[in-house]
Amino acid sequence: MFAFSIRKDEEPYVKEWAKGHPEIEVGYTDELLSPKTAKYAEGADGVVVYQQLSYTAETLQALADQGITKMSLRNVGVDNVDLDKAKELGFEITNVPVYSPNAIAEHAAIQTARILRQTKVLDEKIENGDLRWAPTIGREVRDQTVGVIGTGHIGRVYMQIMEGFGAKVIAFDPYENAELKAKGYYVNTLDELYAQSDVISLHVPATKENTHMINSSSIAKMKDDVVLVNCSRGALVDTDAVIKALDRGKVAGFVMDTYEDEVGIFNADWRNKTFPDKRLEDLIHRSNVLVTPHTAFYTTHAVRNMVLKAFDNNCELIHGKPADTPVKID
Ligand code: NAD
Ligand code: COI
Repeated sequence: MFAFSIRKDEEPYVKEWAKGHPEIEVGYTDELLSPKTAKYAEGADGVVVYQQLSYTAETLQALADQGITKMSLRNVGVDNVDLDKAKELGFEITNVPVYSPNAIAEHAAIQTARILRQTKVLDEKIENGDLRWAPTIGREVRDQTVGVIGTGHIGRVYMQIMEGFGAKVIAFDPYENAELKAKGYYVNTLDELYAQSDVISLHVPATKENTHMINSSSIAKMKDDVVLVNCSRGALVDTDAVIKALDRGKVAGFVMDTYEDEVGIFNADWRNKTFPDKRLEDLIHRSNVLVTPHTAFYTTHAVRNMVLKAFDNNCELIHGKPADTPVKID
């Protein structure tokens, strides 16, 4: 098995897995999988991958040309895989759908609380020696109605945390969870959720249907001073529409751990370089916008599970066993 883009913080877990599987030869590199680097996997039966870049047709072809069609992702999202090409080439793909929902939900909840209490503004003021209270007054979480879009693994944990703060939590999901339904969390339509929520947090996948689900017409249906939280996928949000709504004061705050143009920008060092995206630069410097570079998942707990589960999955694939968490590619 060969793994691409293994970071320093993942290396101990790769070694832990390899130690427990002496029958498997494990190789790895810190380089991203690309048409150029695919050759590093030569002779392997399967690859374990995670990367910020897309798994393009060309990349998949480069693996297939070496007879490698068993690929295990160390993450949840599969929106960056050219699934049509994967199908054409006969790929078997696995992901790790549940490595630590808490990691992402906790981050979303922390950022929600931070934006409501204006901690970014306070921190900046304090650093500059301005220790006055006004006008940096906060909103208490318990006074908010928090609308959760998507009640899957992560959305459900976010709901629990927000309830722990005392918020009124409502939710929308076309596939309702029986337990949440029995407890009366669901509203019937997204429009109802938009109309009632003071905070709206997205926990849905970036499917074609969900692309830009937050746009100027959905924002128009929301309450004034709404706070938007996107720790899911950048493509869910029409960033320009949110910027306009921030400028008008309709949206009071925006939490973004994901950004529609993040590929090639997030998880890179831009110090002493020209920042490549003016729109993102503007958002980063706004006092009512909290940007994190897709780090919601990034905890020791999550990373260990991502690595160990992806290697287990790939081991199953190369032994011809049915994968525990296959990615549906038809
Ligand atoms: P999940 O599959 O467990 O749950 C997603 C839920 O969304 C499902 O219940 C589905 O029915 C629902 N849904 C789909 N479209 C909807 C819509 N239009 N309206 C309402 N509900 C809808 O997924 P998850 O593991 O909870 O992941 C949620 C999101 O978090 C995904 O976008 C995933 O890629 C993202 N994610 C982000 C990070 C990060 O570091 N920021 C890490 C992991 C996952
Ligand atoms: C995911 O697991 O889908 C994430 O968003 C985290 C990142 C490692 C891609």
